[in-house]
Amino acid sequence: MSATLTNKIEIIKATSSKINEVDFENLSFGAVFTDHLFECDYKNGEWQNPVIKPYKPFLLDPSAKVFHYGQAIFEGMKAYKDDQNAIWLFRPDENYKRFNNSAVRMAMPEVPEVIFMDGLNQLLDLDQAWVKPGAGNSMYIRPFMIATGDGVIANPSDDYKFMIILSPAKSYYSGEVKVLIAEHFSRAANGGIGAAKAAGNYAAQFYPTTLANKQGYQQVIWTDDATHTKLEEAGTMNVFFRINDTLLTAPVSERILDGITRKSLIEMAKKEGITVDVRPVLVSELVEAAQNGSLKEIFGAGTAAVVNPIIGFSYKEVYHELPKIENSFALQLKEKLTNIQHKLSEDTFGWTVKV
Ligand code: COI
Repeated sequence: MSATLTNKIEIIKATSSKINEVDFENLSFGAVFTDHLFECDYKNGEWQNPVIKPYKPFLLDPSAKVFHYGQAIFEGMKAYKDDQNAIWLFRPDENYKRFNNSAVRMAMPEVPEVIFMDGLNQLLDLDQAWVKPGAGNSMYIRPFMIATGDGVIANPSDDYKFMIILSPAKSYYSGEVKVLIAEHFSRAANGGIGAAKAAGNYAAQFYPTTLANKQGYQQVIWTDDATHTKLEEAGTMNVFFRINDTLLTAPVSERILDGITRKSLIEMAKKEGITVDVRPVLVSELVEAAQNGSLKEIFGAGTAAVVNPIIGFSYKEVYHELPKIENSFALQLKEKLTNIQHKLSEDTFGWTVKV
């Protein structure tokens, strides 16, 4: 990977490690972080002072724009350790591109590739003992950028902080996932920020998702804001529907995140000979397919969620449970994907990149 910044990253090592305090068999998603983080500040129109340093809280002025206007973006990526102890990233170039697309949409400066990639590679190298090998284990990587400039005037900040933190992870969802189909609330609108990984997109989902949680649903599948007739994405993952033997998923748009797991599954499924139809999927056809038995599977796809079967959905207060299925596309694709990610099978797509 690019190496030009290598000598410029200052490395301040932690004097002790927390690793022995961590129960790697019982990790809650995103709750534990490694010993170090990467940080680089944007000031006076330049990225400066890239540093890897011990993970700890930091100070910001109470008027920093991130607190008032939510000028903040992030990415979700994963690294995996193979059985030779080498660490591999999955499609990091895609995360990098999407990060900068989000930055542009949120009027933030783009992060140079060398800062993003060298920061990430050197951080993973330093905290490599935290990346555990074996099926189900991964290192969840959270690059993010916040507006650190002071002052509550509502305009883009002059100053920013880019950071990368690492969290050892197993699965995102621990039990069965049931979803509620949105009838009133919306995640995104045309012309809005739905395609960006902007922090506010996630915060805006918390209230309706909490209402859904209270009714026993883990997630909401969002519908288009204008008509609420088209199925779009769930807030933590894109969604696929299997009707008979065809996989359906909504096209990415201004309202839908261009998921990297989503696009990888589409490519893999096609290669497996599965028919994939990327087109608007109507709520009415889902309900009809559930009623006539042609709806075989629904599953979510995302970096954190990987490939997660959804066992049923509720729409207009009617719950539709999916039948148990023998040859699940979700499980088949998940196995193929995770085997590539863990280097257990040949990566014919060229998606994995060694750290
Ligand atoms: C990811 O899958 O990486 C995401 O960013 C979703 C997040 C809600 C955990």
